[in-house]
Amino acid sequence: MTNKKPFYITTPIYYPSGKLHIGSAYTTIACDVLARYKRMMNYDVFYLTGLDEHGQKIQSKAEEAGITPQEYVDDMAVGVKELWKLLDISYDKFIRTTDDYHEEVVAAVFERLLEQDDIYLGEYAGWYSVSDEEFFTESQLEEIFRDENGKVIGGIAPSGHEVEWVSEESYFLRLGKYADKLLDFFRTHPDFIQPDGRMNEIIKNFIEPGLEDLAVSRTSFTWGVKVPSDPKHVVYVWIDALLNYATALGYGQKNHANFDKFWQGTVYHMVGKDILRFHSIYWPIMLMMLDMKLPDRLIAHGWFVMKDGKMSKSKGNVVYPEMLVERYGLDALRYYLMRSLPVGSDGTFTPEDYVGRINYELANDLGNLLNRTVAMINKYFAGNIPAYAENVTDFDADLAATVAENLTEYHKQMDAVDYPRALEAVWNIISRTNKYIDETSPWVLAKEETDRDHLAAVMAHLAASLRVVAHLIQPFMMTTSNAIMEQLGLAGQFDLENLKLSGLPAGVKVAAKGTPIFPRLDMNDEIAYIKEQMGDSAAVAQADKKEWDPNAVELKNEKKAIKFEDFDKVEIRVAEVKEVTKVKGSDKLLQFRLDAGDGNDRQILSGIAKFYPNEQELVGQKLQIIANLKPRKMMGLVSQGMILSAEHADGRLTVLTVDAAVPNGSQIG
Ligand code: ME8
Ligand code: MG
Repeated sequence: MTNKKPFYITTPIYYPSGKLHIGSAYTTIACDVLARYKRMMNYDVFYLTGLDEHGQKIQSKAEEAGITPQEYVDDMAVGVKELWKLLDISYDKFIRTTDDYHEEVVAAVFERLLEQDDIYLGEYAGWYSVSDEEFFTESQLEEIFRDENGKVIGGIAPSGHEVEWVSEESYFLRLGKYADKLLDFFRTHPDFIQPDGRMNEIIKNFIEPGLEDLAVSRTSFTWGVKVPSDPKHVVYVWIDALLNYATALGYGQKNHANFDKFWQGTVYHMVGKDILRFHSIYWPIMLMMLDMKLPDRLIAHGWFVMKDGKMSKSKGNVVYPEMLVERYGLDALRYYLMRSLPVGSDGTFTPEDYVGRINYELANDLGNLLNRTVAMINKYFAGNIPAYAENVTDFDADLAATVAENLTEYHKQMDAVDYPRALEAVWNIISRTNKYIDETSPWVLAKEETDRDHLAAVMAHLAASLRVVAHLIQPFMMTTSNAIMEQLGLAGQFDLENLKLSGLPAGVKVAAKGTPIFPRLDMNDEIAYIKEQMGDSAAVAQADKKEWDPNAVELKNEKKAIKFEDFDKVEIRVAEVKEVTKVKGSDKLLQFRLDAGDGNDRQILSGIAKFYPNEQELVGQKLQIIANLKPRKMMGLVSQGMILSAEHADGRLTVLTVDAAVPNGSQIG
């Protein structure tokens, strides 16, 4: 009884750089499902989640907000914890990398690696994406920008974020030295990275081309763990972050009982595919350097994307979990997310799919089965579930076989962390049971007293099958699972380890009246509702309806407040479009010749080509430009200012025009 096996499961620690969307909710729920499943299977589970609070990205977010980074992350942490509460996440610990115990161990580890010469001082020069907090070589960039001499002046990371040139003194981690050892580990642990196939990608893309040493400190900002022996350096945020998995258990601290227990047990890290590289290369090598056991499994899942690509605020296609929970309940969200993202590939979130699954799979398949079963047991047997007996009707054996088969499949898929398949197995049982009602036609059996034992067997099978289903969905949908058990008169009586169809206890009474667990939704109305919630314009319309009280208005500016003098530095003028042409080799840029009333026409490049397929319509229009922006080069062409445009919720841009009567060069302000 006491000999439970320790099982450690972790989510990535998220950057609190914005409100978390259903992407982070996905990973956190996925880990929660595993934690709950393992607990039901009698493991001693430790489930860790938390926040990655250091780094350049967080520092700039705080600066934009006009508060200190600590204030910023303290504030964000409150919101994240609230979200996990809403999603009923059963974590055992919430780590923040600004926690003292964590920072102390990170500093100590860094010094230890320096001492043992796994870290050395050097010079870093290369590309850095602040959004990803990741270094890139030129060849790893998705897109490269060059000036007229062919010199690379910028680029785009595979994530779609811009990179900046970084050139600074830096400490390096000797990854190269451990490449062979890592490959050996991969070879002897072919299941280390799931799903299969990802390991080969990592080997091919990162190890075979030669594993370069990794820059592991930065000097150009301060928000991080300082290197004790050289405090102008802060520890690279990823080194800091990865160590959370160990420090959260007490590694390097006085009380390390959890570390001794759980790190020696089974260790699973679940991550999105975007950060597999860090977890499959840097982390194992760090652990080797520290003489620590390597994790047992890295589970890399794909992304939830939108029909129009990656979720982004400017596209107006971000879905926040709060809205879905508020309207459709938590279980629908957990079910949808876990059922819809196939293992190893990306999945598309669509409102149609969301509402459809609630209606067909939850309300229809599962909800109706429960309602009909409870109602019939009340009607035919005064609420008493007849004793379970095998092979009474012609259909019992097949139902039992389907349940047994899918029960095995369920456990297999749960072990493989393939939730869509695990849930499919559950829905196979549900469908088979619904079919069983049609096959046995209880309402016909109820007419003949001689069919009484058949009718009893049917009712027992239905209840037994629902009891199995309630167990299997418990890690996914706690409320629904509990409600089914309650309506069956079995509240709280779970035993997943020994679950069998025939395990239905005798002498149980169902609830006097079944309550629907999922209401049927109006497809069109609800699809429209979700769509509306995804776009900003809807929110604005909503806000407009409220009574306006200027003293109580809280402005939601994205940027921090500036003084009038700051604004006064900006010179906005009216400029007339003289000529406009498409820039060769770019599908974004238009090249403008503009008259801003200062005698010489000026050239401005603007990334609005997509929105003006007939760009000639702009000739003769009077636009608003920032006239004193420092000239810069794009695609080898100089740009002397910036054309102002307004961004629609879907990311479209419209230039700001001025009445033709306004003279060129007029100042705006
Ligand atoms: O990378 N679909 O934090 P992060 C599915 N701090 N999952 C998604 C997703 C989407 N559209 N968007 C995000 C970091 N995720 C580091 C981690 S760990 C030591 C440090 C999930 O806030 C997915 O799990 O950028 C992804 O890996 C993670 O959020 C990235 O979160
Ligand atoms: Mg990221």
